[in-house]
Amino acid sequence: MSDPASPWTLARRAARLNPSTIREILKLTELPGIISLAGGLPAPESFPVEAMAEASARVLRDQPREALQYAASEGFGPLREWLSAQLARDGLKADPARILVTTGSQQGLDLVGKVLVDPGSRVAVEQPTYLGALQAFAPFEPEFQPLACDDEGPLPEAFAAARGARMAYLLPNFQNPSGRSIPAARREAIVAQAAAHGVPIVEDNPYGELWYDEAPPPPLSAAAGEGAVYLGSFSKVLAPGLRLGFVVAPAALFPKLLQAKQAADLHTPGFNQRVAYEVVRDGFLDTHLPAVRARYKRQRDAMQAALQAHLPAGCRWQKPHGGMFFWVELPPAVDATALLPRAVEAGVAYVPGAPFFSDGGRSDCLRLSFVTVTPERIDEGVRALAGVIAQALDTRKAA
Ligand SMILES: Cc1ncc(COP(=O)(O)O)c(C=O)c1O
Repeated sequence: MSDPASPWTLARRAARLNPSTIREILKLTELPGIISLAGGLPAPESFPVEAMAEASARVLRDQPREALQYAASEGFGPLREWLSAQLARDGLKADPARILVTTGSQQGLDLVGKVLVDPGSRVAVEQPTYLGALQAFAPFEPEFQPLACDDEGPLPEAFAAARGARMAYLLPNFQNPSGRSIPAARREAIVAQAAAHGVPIVEDNPYGELWYDEAPPPPLSAAAGEGAVYLGSFSKVLAPGLRLGFVVAPAALFPKLLQAKQAADLHTPGFNQRVAYEVVRDGFLDTHLPAVRARYKRQRDAMQAALQAHLPAGCRWQKPHGGMFFWVELPPAVDATALLPRAVEAGVAYVPGAPFFSDGGRSDCLRLSFVTVTPERIDEGVRALAGVIAQALDTRKAA
């Protein structure tokens, strides 16, 4: 509502910027004594503090003036070369000249939205999907088009209805929030159907390196070529505070994304890029990532065991093979949003599922994170959650 005493008139797009539900919930979880399974943050114990300290000192000693100067909007050349070599290991051929370093992959989402979406443009999204992407695209006023999904991700036949969409935003590895992954055969079918119906793919892959059972199949972008944009991030492999991500863009988009990047923040901090490069250049991740995977796998297994032991019949979930999240579907008509205050009273917090649906669709599901809580506390938290769900079921039966 406009205030007649105020000289400020907000842009229409500002009305579409809303407080992040997750941030609001995270505030709740900071209350003392709450076991928070709500967070989306990596475990701080996994941050390579020593390696970062040494690399920062080296950068300040050997290249201080370059590191502290304005820099190229595309990103630090050696880091882009390293990324290209790294992506080749995952099966994605990426010319360093088409890699744009971004200030977190969240900025990549904003730039992609800016360059591709007009008011009313259709953007096809998974159900559920990453809330932060819905928030990044929303100010450009798209019409979100839900893609029908099952436990293996979007159905290939769903792409026919997406013909004419400016993009399909897809998360093939250990999706946030559902934890699901798209198997190799489904990936091939999706790429074929997306190409057949002229739907470009925006592939977001911040969790691909966090696998606990086996490495994921090659990215969609490997097969989709010029029909895909690929987004990656250092947040889950080094540390999110670096705010380092990247976009691999087709020739048709790279110049526009670069211009949007220039207008947004000129460039991603050169100091951070050089420090990250110093950390990773000589194979650091080959020892660091297995340690992170081993830590998270223990926690993933603890959560799987706790869910099996405690959740009442009628709850449904899939064990994720990587990433940070379990997605629990509750028995019909148990509302996860309505249940949250009772769960917090019982000492446990989670994120209700509804905001992850572009149409606000389903409230009978919730997201649990396992990476920042010890196995013992995971068991305690899941037990408390199970009690609250069981109580809701009893109340429903009695009604
Ligand atoms: C699916 C997904 N995409 C993008 C991001 C943003 O990551 P970054 O820290 O690289 O901006 C996140 C963060 O949690 C995410 O879960």
